[in-house]
Amino acid sequence: MHMQKDDYKKGSISHWEKDWAGKKANFSLTKPVDDWNYFDLFRDEYLERMLLKNKNILCLECGCGSASTSLYFANKGAKAAMLDASISALNIARENFSKYNLRGMFINGNMERLPFADDKFDLVMSFGVLEHFEDMAPSIKEMVRILKPGGTFFASVSPKKYSIQLVGNLINTVTRFIYNLKHRRFREAFFRSYPATPEFYENSLSSRQYVEIIEKCGLKNVKLSGSRPFPSLNILPSMFKIYIMFMKMLKPLHLLFEMHTSKFTELWGVEWNIVGTKE
Ligand SMILES: C[S@@+](CC[C@H](N)C(=O)[O-])C[C@H]1O[C@@H](n2cnc3c(N)ncnc32)[C@H](O)[C@@H]1O
Repeated sequence: MHMQKDDYKKGSISHWEKDWAGKKANFSLTKPVDDWNYFDLFRDEYLERMLLKNKNILCLECGCGSASTSLYFANKGAKAAMLDASISALNIARENFSKYNLRGMFINGNMERLPFADDKFDLVMSFGVLEHFEDMAPSIKEMVRILKPGGTFFASVSPKKYSIQLVGNLINTVTRFIYNLKHRRFREAFFRSYPATPEFYENSLSSRQYVEIIEKCGLKNVKLSGSRPFPSLNILPSMFKIYIMFMKMLKPLHLLFEMHTSKFTELWGVEWNIVGTKE
């Protein structure tokens, strides 16, 4: 289907379907296969301490994609429900769950109209989703509506801003340039080595704007902090082992970074974590 430019602006569902089609489940709960797998596992461990004090909670992941956090939480005993607009994404999430013999509830739907009763979930989360909406308030209001009073909202967003990923992009550019030269692809080397801008829409909201919108949607104690002090790298699969070893060595510092809230971590971090409570 040919996409209209405006479709991207709405966090278009057909765009995501196209994006997920043909992708495979390759998430490991024990041995990260690449940097993304490591970032997700690190975050899951961190969130387990922060959000899974009671292991039997009922949680929902909106715009779940391959649903790595729900998988991790289900493995710890949580009852996990996952919702995504893309059927292909849900198939990957299902594959991940069946690989680990875990049970989950998979729902194909739109997070602007969640198919659940009010006050149902202990925890409602989203990762890398809200930044793709031109107007994210309808989705957040829905997430708040289905939370139990006292329940927790958690969102991770990748804001459009400078961060350590800029250094990652430079490394990625140099690596791609050398690779293309080595393979005598001179045109690509000089014109296509810089990472392409992602096709999908990303809003340009500041941290303050995120907090304001989320508070207006009915959440209390909203806190935003910088997250993920390491960039994602476009390196050969054999190099991921070295990169992951390096990040594991720095794990105590990484933890400090996640726990610390300041303008520095907000700027350096590739992502922002936002947490809030329903009264
Ligand atoms: C960038 S991906 C993030 C996927 C996953 N959370 C992760 O971190 O890997 C955004 C996800 O949001 C889903 N999505 C976009 N708009 C949606 C909507 N209105 N309702 C439900 N899911 C939506 C997409 O299908 C896609 O899987």
